[in-house]
Amino acid sequence: PTILSQTSLISRDDLTYPFEERGLQFGDGVYEVIRIYQGAYYLLTEHIDRLFRSAGGIKIELPFSKQEITNLLNDLLTQNEMASDGIVYLQATRGSAPRIHAFPADTPANVYAYIQDMPRKTENLKNGVSAITQRDTRWENCYIKSLNLLPNVLAKQAAQENGSYEAILERDGMVTECSSSNIYLVKNGTIYTHPATNRILHGCVRMRVEQFAGDLDMPFVEEAFSIDDIKDADEVFLSSSTSEVMPIVNVDGNQIADGAPGSITRRLQAVYETDAG
Ligand code: PDD
Repeated sequence: PTILSQTSLISRDDLTYPFEERGLQFGDGVYEVIRIYQGAYYLLTEHIDRLFRSAGGIKIELPFSKQEITNLLNDLLTQNEMASDGIVYLQATRGSAPRIHAFPADTPANVYAYIQDMPRKTENLKNGVSAITQRDTRWENCYIKSLNLLPNVLAKQAAQENGSYEAILERDGMVTECSSSNIYLVKNGTIYTHPATNRILHGCVRMRVEQFAGDLDMPFVEEAFSIDDIKDADEVFLSSSTSEVMPIVNVDGNQIADGAPGSITRRLQAVYETDAG
């Protein structure tokens, strides 16, 4: 397979990194996961905008313009003759240089991107998934899609060891998001989700969910809800590029409402399917 390295397409086997790489040694970089449906990107512009926002947030200079990376990512699909469902993983680090904490001088960013097959999670989307709650121990700039994922990794592992799909993160009793997705609660027909502050990643699918809700005349309120609110929720769902609009039917072993995906979640799923084509 072909991958993107810096601003060239090369064979996957030709990519080598020095061990003094700031992504490896400091997690000093940012990344994106972009959905591909039947060989076409979904929300590509939104992801590229966020990549630039993340890189800017930690002062990494990207070696391309938005138009150039768009063209490169499209070439990557073409060269791999990608026609199925998958993702592209793209990361940009502060580069390779002898290990010092401060930014190394005259060091260009390291960028790579590769495609991976990933089928849609149709069974989960149909039946819903379970989640556990975990403390949000991340830093204060979660809007930056940073490679520092240790709190997310530990939270997801705790979920997996519990047999759950996701970990819902909570700060001082209020729900921020999940370990790798945004989260929503439905009560009396209104959709609640944490505001797009620096406490959460501003999900590309989240942006779309807000639009869908508007199109469907569903009240959408950017207001944080609490862990306690989940007990009385009518519906709970999460969103991400890899999970789409995913019903959560059980939290910490307690069933949400009647334990089946709710009608608002179902309607948003239907609109998502049409939008993603
Ligand atoms: N995760 N919140 C966090 C912490 C995330 O890592 C993600 C994405 C989201 C949803 O963002 P989007 O709708 O743009 O995919 C929210 C990706 C898929 C990942 O790390 O694999």
